[in-house]
Amino acid sequence: MAGRIETLRWAGDRLELIDQRLLPQRVEYYACETAAEVAAAIRDMVVRGAPAIGCAAAYGVALETGRPTFGSIGEFHAAVEAAIAELGASRPTAVNLFWALDRMRRAYDEVRSEPPERIATRLVAEAVAIQREDLDVNHAIGRHGAALVPDGARIMTHCNAGALATAGHGTALGVVRSARDQGKRVAVIANETRPFLQGARLTAWEMVQEEIPVTLVTDGMAGHLMQRGQVDLIVVGADRIAANGDVANKIGTYPLAVLAARHGLPFYVAAPLSTIDRDVPDGAAIPIEERDGAEVTGFRGERWAPEGVAVANPAFDVTPAALVTGLITERGVVAPLDPDGLRRLFVG
Ligand code: MRU
Repeated sequence: MAGRIETLRWAGDRLELIDQRLLPQRVEYYACETAAEVAAAIRDMVVRGAPAIGCAAAYGVALETGRPTFGSIGEFHAAVEAAIAELGASRPTAVNLFWALDRMRRAYDEVRSEPPERIATRLVAEAVAIQREDLDVNHAIGRHGAALVPDGARIMTHCNAGALATAGHGTALGVVRSARDQGKRVAVIANETRPFLQGARLTAWEMVQEEIPVTLVTDGMAGHLMQRGQVDLIVVGADRIAANGDVANKIGTYPLAVLAARHGLPFYVAAPLSTIDRDVPDGAAIPIEERDGAEVTGFRGERWAPEGVAVANPAFDVTPAALVTGLITERGVVAPLDPDGLRRLFVG
């Protein structure tokens, strides 16, 4: 088996990210030395996936406090505030970004009156903790989720909710990995995930690396496979889960959930508690990122759509809670329609 995928590496004075735009053809690290560079890396999809962008943003704040270029303490504090604002403006849908920035702000507030070097040490420690905890959380999600996976299961997934989307192990793919680690035979059906191809490029790559059987299909093939009895369950990740259990995830997730209901298949969402946004009442209130139409009209510089065509490119859609069989979290599995279940996750 190949070595563990290190999506983010802290190198003391810089953050190194696997450049996910280049996968699977090239495995290269992209170095960020400032918060602005981390914000650009998030915007441009060097790093993507809800928990991974939260971890990256946390390091972005830490990097800003470590820069030796400030004239006065006032300038230092202004730069940290500007860094938090710029990172917060990088992508709007995944709430893990804002969750991580809130955590960094709380750590910053605790040591705000101390010298910059003390602040930098504290904020680096907080970013490292966020990354470590995410890895632990994903293993817990994997354990809970694996209990739902029958031996021999064919698991369909969408986008990439794997090691590349997190600090490691993954959420949806964490369930797959943990089931495999428990000795179950599992096979993955990876939806290609138009337009950015996270399924074809990233999920397929992760599974091939680990020799977990994987079949790549285009998004439009999902219904056919379900109809033919070739899918046993669906497990996806999430970018933000509203207080009523509605789930925002990669565009194309909602039709999969509708198809799963039509075919009586379990549809699970694997996500950490940091993805649940109890301040947002329902899915309609989740901001949906609209990305550049160039992602739809072509790929990596090649254009296949005619000039002049209008393009829509919403990056996420919302699956109503009623279509979700269970939310797999680090604290166990709950039915999203059960308000007590969701509330219980946050107790203790
Ligand atoms: O646009 P992306 O690639 O950042 O979208 C990623 C997803 O939709 C994932 O399913 C989600 O972030 C969960 S990652 C554990």
